[in-house]
Amino acid sequence: MSVLRTGMVLFLGLTLMTLKASGSPDSSPKVEVQPFGAISSGQKTDLYVLSNRKGMVVAITSYGATIVSIKVPDREGHVDDVTLGFDTARGYEAGKAYFGATIGRYGNRIAHGQFVLDGKTYTLPKNNGDNTLHGGISGFSMKIWAAKEIPSKDGVAVQFTYVSPDGEEGFPGTLTATVEFTLFKDKNELKIDYKASTDKPTVVNLTNHSYFNLAGQNQGTILEQTLQLNASRFTPVDAALIPTGELRDVKNTPFEFKQPVAIGKRIDDADEQLKFGQGYDHNWVLDRKAGSSGLGLAAVARDPKSGRVLEVLTTEPGVQIYTGNFLDGTVAGKGGYKYSRRSAFCLETQHFPDSPNHANFPSTTLAPGKEYRTTTIFRFSVK
Ligand code: GLA
Repeated sequence: MSVLRTGMVLFLGLTLMTLKASGSPDSSPKVEVQPFGAISSGQKTDLYVLSNRKGMVVAITSYGATIVSIKVPDREGHVDDVTLGFDTARGYEAGKAYFGATIGRYGNRIAHGQFVLDGKTYTLPKNNGDNTLHGGISGFSMKIWAAKEIPSKDGVAVQFTYVSPDGEEGFPGTLTATVEFTLFKDKNELKIDYKASTDKPTVVNLTNHSYFNLAGQNQGTILEQTLQLNASRFTPVDAALIPTGELRDVKNTPFEFKQPVAIGKRIDDADEQLKFGQGYDHNWVLDRKAGSSGLGLAAVARDPKSGRVLEVLTTEPGVQIYTGNFLDGTVAGKGGYKYSRRSAFCLETQHFPDSPNHANFPSTTLAPGKEYRTTTIFRFSVK
């Protein structure tokens, strides 16, 4: 072999080796930041993309500290995006369904946009009939949060911070809220840690409003996916979806999910509560050992086709199950796919709706000098 040919063979070999190295997936856990477009005010947003060693990739935008996508493998190892959403920040700004967003200052409804705290009546803007829903007209889901990657011993993490001024959307006190998302390096778990502090007594109820479809975000309805809830009671509502104050036993009702049941099995039963919600749109009271405030298993959802399982663990006392009853196929989401009725379910871990107006519900009041702290985990597996 001539010197020239040997040189060429060597060169080709080296080139191939380099190509192979750069072409193979880099599986070390990481966070990448990408632009996610400007909203109508011209303000720019970012997308934080977290990935781990087990094939899970989670994208979160600074607009609303919103989970844009969660990609996880099915039982064959095929990765799909299992949450509904949009391709740009503008989509979220125009959207009305709170896809993936961090909800605050107060998740779910406050009746008649009013509550009394320390003898003073506070009036909030109404954005849901006569009530205030998900923090009001311009809640936390519509704010651009300050974002940065933070160190984590468990994996990779991003912290989002929003300072809500005193009186914003009618709520008293400057509230400094942080939400930290941690993707574990060696297990397909996303941990969400919420923290908040205030300079005046206020009410707080933060949650994440991800819409899950375990078959994939463009795979039709979730009616055949199963749900199991660690809850013996729920909080029945009136026709405007405001809790009556009762904690009702789920036994022998379409609200009993102590064993896994297909979400669609009883969703259209002749039941007054289902009629009010046009399906499930209710808060379940999680079963807990008296006095325990640690993480407990709240829900297990499973898609029999893909085998994907989602377990939700939380420190919160309740979970709102919403089955996308108001989605109607008019909204085009990621990849232009149109989200039809009941094409996803939400598992919103929370304090109960309208707690400021129900003395018998766990309190949502936060005093200055105290720290609000809750944790929720979305754990994925296959079965
Ligand atoms: C919550 C509410 C629902 C609905 C959705 C968003 O789950 O309880 O009634 O507003 O958010 O559409």
